[in-house]
Amino acid sequence: MNVKALPVVEGKFNLKNYDETYKGFDWSEAEKEFSWSETGKVNLAYEAIDRHAETYRKNKIALYYKDDKRKEKYTFKEMKDYTNQAANVFKDIAHVEKGDRVFIFMPRSPELYFALLGAIKTGAVVGPLFEAFMEGAVRDRLEDSEASVLVTTPELLPRVPVDELPHLKHIFLVGENIKEEGKYHHFNKKLKEADTKFDIEWVDRNDGLILHYTSGSTGKPKGVLHVHNAMVQHYQTARWVLDLQEEDVYWCTADPGWVTGTSYGIFGPWLTGTSNVIVGGRFKPESWYKTLQDFGVTVWYSAPTAFRMLMGAGDEIVKRFDLSSLRHILSVGEPLNPEVVRWGMKVFNHRIHDTWWMTETGAQVICNYPCLEIKPGSMGKPIPGVKAAIVDDQGNELPPHRMGNLAIKKGWPSMMKTVWNNQAKYESYFMPGDWYVSGDSAYMDEEGYFWFQGRVDDVIMTAGERVGPFEVESKLVEHPAVAEAGVIGKPDPVRGEIIKAFIALRDGYDANDALIEEIRQFVKNGLAAHAAPREIEFRDKLPKTRSGKIMRRVLKAWELDLPTGDLSSMED
Ligand code: WT7
Repeated sequence: MNVKALPVVEGKFNLKNYDETYKGFDWSEAEKEFSWSETGKVNLAYEAIDRHAETYRKNKIALYYKDDKRKEKYTFKEMKDYTNQAANVFKDIAHVEKGDRVFIFMPRSPELYFALLGAIKTGAVVGPLFEAFMEGAVRDRLEDSEASVLVTTPELLPRVPVDELPHLKHIFLVGENIKEEGKYHHFNKKLKEADTKFDIEWVDRNDGLILHYTSGSTGKPKGVLHVHNAMVQHYQTARWVLDLQEEDVYWCTADPGWVTGTSYGIFGPWLTGTSNVIVGGRFKPESWYKTLQDFGVTVWYSAPTAFRMLMGAGDEIVKRFDLSSLRHILSVGEPLNPEVVRWGMKVFNHRIHDTWWMTETGAQVICNYPCLEIKPGSMGKPIPGVKAAIVDDQGNELPPHRMGNLAIKKGWPSMMKTVWNNQAKYESYFMPGDWYVSGDSAYMDEEGYFWFQGRVDDVIMTAGERVGPFEVESKLVEHPAVAEAGVIGKPDPVRGEIIKAFIALRDGYDANDALIEEIRQFVKNGLAAHAAPREIEFRDKLPKTRSGKIMRRVLKAWELDLPTGDLSSMED
């Protein structure tokens, strides 16, 4: 492929010479940035908040918060006090101990961040859940993790099947006028009453920090466990890739229910002592530009779907705002189209820097850096300290321009520790040669840039969110009209992919629009809005293997008018 590289824009960068740094870098250098290299005592929440509250950053704004109703700001000192109070609440009322799971299921608000970091201070493993999850999705995650504490809101509580979750001992409700009884506590009230001093639970570097549930092509969502040691990579990439510096105002648009919203919505920015903008509520192009303008955002991390939606809203809107504070823009989650990169140059006069990583990698792995030329369409190069390669199915490294499995050499600091309750699943990620195999296919060019080609499995990426077709199929067949269902990702210009379901109906049901709507609502109410198929097509029969597995590859071929390939395993 012949791509014209976009030039480097001169500036003050934390990573000055990629090749030189890549050659000489050792993770023990990054560890020196933390107090635990001297004290031997580790807790990420201390490094992200308390440490700054003891320095000249004490009165620096850590959190700028905004949604439709609230506009607030908190200094590092205030964050220290509030997170200490949250820690005391969990410890005194719910008797949380190191390793217990504390889950948080609520929309973005300052309380969410106090709760999350407060729980980490107690040594608990936190589990943030996306607010759009419906009952089935919430149950799966609370059951699997055996969470003993949940922080949620009265509005979301009906989606928590409390009586079916024997491990769930305490529920903290965030909001106003909350009646306390039994296991239900009013979080805001308890927070106010709690002491602002807390003795942090010091943990081992490899003790559990956070659980993020994510989807594969088979089975239920799996809990990817990360440990405190991940902070080394969160910190270092926040410097090299986000390029965060003392005077920056940073905005990451992701929700903490997804890994981007924690690794780079919480940990990266606060480990580096950066002022962090957090905005609740729904996506509206106008209000996004207004956020950039009003807070004077300098570094902005978002996703291709969002950039495509902004692009779709037109260039005229952009001109109504003063976006001169912006100096660095990044993207993650799906392929970043070259067209979007060029649009970014036009309207923002900045290159959008693509970054590649996964829930399992815990932090950025392959990236574009301020000091490096960008080849639009490429994900960039591996961060120093990490080796990435394209390998075949036996784990042999492939030469440039050969497509294969995108793999990472085991042992980077933010690598997942395990899959919760499923060590076998964890081990299945690895290939001989200590390669972690991502499930993405890609190739590398002769200059070492990586180019994304697609998923190896059937995982769907829709609007930057990862959806397992199996979960959607399982939910679909719970509907009384559905005999069989096969789900695929269908390419979409804005969302990357949309979810399309092929359905065979049970006898006695007629295919019609009302039924389509009913089935869509059924998935929406059972899983989450983003998991509901946007398109549903009825077929008399679905293609299956002789062992009864739906052949999604054949469905995809039907959809895209492609050859169906080898059908020898298909039933008659
Ligand atoms: C999958 C991981 C880590 C944050 C967001 C997603 C896809 C991620 C890129 C990119 C093309 C990308 C991959 C990956 N993906 N970044 N820059 N270009 N594809 O995390 O939900 O764990 O999904 O997202 O397919 O395997 P996730």
